Amino acid sequence: MIRQEVVVMVIGIGRIGRIHAGNLARMQKVKVRYIVDIDMDAVTQYIREFGLSATQPLHFDDISRAYNDVEVNSAIICTPTTSHEQHVINALNAGKNVMCEKPLAFSLESISRCYEIAREKDLHLYCAFNRRFDPQIRSAWMDKEKIAGNLKSIKVTSRDMPRNSIEYLKISGGMSIDQCIHDVDLIRWFAQENPTTVYSLGHAFFDDIRKIGDVDQLYVTMQFGDGTMGHVDANREAVYGYDHRCEIFGDKGMIVCENKRELSTQQYTEAGNIAPAVIKDNMKRFEDSYWEEMVHFVNVIRRKEKIAVKSRDTLWATLICEASRQSLVTKQPIRMDEFAAKVFPKLLDMLP
Ligand SMILES: NC(=O)c1ccc[n+]([C@@H]2O[C@H](COP(=O)([O-])OP(=O)(O)OC[C@H]3O[C@@H](n4cnc5c(N)ncnc54)[C@H](O)[C@@H]3O)[C@@H](O)[C@H]2O)c1
Repeated sequence: MIRQEVVVMVIGIGRIGRIHAGNLARMQKVKVRYIVDIDMDAVTQYIREFGLSATQPLHFDDISRAYNDVEVNSAIICTPTTSHEQHVINALNAGKNVMCEKPLAFSLESISRCYEIAREKDLHLYCAFNRRFDPQIRSAWMDKEKIAGNLKSIKVTSRDMPRNSIEYLKISGGMSIDQCIHDVDLIRWFAQENPTTVYSLGHAFFDDIRKIGDVDQLYVTMQFGDGTMGHVDANREAVYGYDHRCEIFGDKGMIVCENKRELSTQQYTEAGNIAPAVIKDNMKRFEDSYWEEMVHFVNVIRRKEKIAVKSRDTLWATLICEASRQSLVTKQPIRMDEFAAKVFPKLLDMLP
């Protein structure tokens, strides 16, 4: 039987939790039953601000109340990455479908364990690679063969704005897995293959980032079996706005996804051409994609759509980020078959 009503608990009401909870609250036949956080003020303020009178605020210490509520069929996990694995396992064991923010967990073993539990319990586990749902990027994906033909190169520029706090960065897992995982997934999704080689170079321009052992500028270059190249040019801060552009190049042509701007109006005079500023805030740049991915997750639960991000996608994106981190240290290209055999051999049997 198709269950029409989706009843959710949202865990973590910070930057991304607020967006997901707001999108769910706007949907037909979706109830946000609980919002859980360690910061009760943040929860009550959010509920008040958005007039969610049917939503119950819950402190993390009382989360079992939400887990024991049999009407709740889904959990949306938006807490810091360090706590994802535990929340995912607990929610699955409580019989909830799970949408978890990226990265799902830091280790391949942990991610694999989460998907195994989901399989055993016959529940959905979706990792939030929201770029796949951005209308611009999705239209490029749909047209890639028609316009670009056989792909030769997929390039993504991904420069954040505003820069995350050092408190966030400290527990983020590092630039590769925290920021670049989105773009790595994007490139692998376009290439429809796993890379054979990954190579990374990076640098910390900011002292506080250098002190925590991370970088704030990172290049991740990938080569695929048929020769196609992928490249992520990432930076933790672009002063002019959230800079996200893609170029999909092939033997027939090229598709370019340009930056989104505050307005689409441009002014042309004798003196030249003025374009409005690039959207400043990263959460605003991708707001359409957050909505579309939530519609997708709800449709998956209603069995109207098949899940777009599978276990192998999450695992491969994580493996590529781990290889990038290793390459950053050794300054050597990483052969992915050797690397996978060493760190997580199960992946070698997983198709693209
Ligand atoms: N997909 C995207 O575009 C995107 C964007 C931003 C963040 N993220 C991811 O979302 C996650 C959260 O990031 P954020 O920027 O929203 O963080 P944030 O710090 O703004 O919010 C985290 C919230 O979780 C709460 N919290 C902390 N520990 C908790 C616990 N154990 N149980 C319940 N609540 C807890 C905090 O009080 C806070 O309200 C990270 O994994 C991050 O990588 C994804």
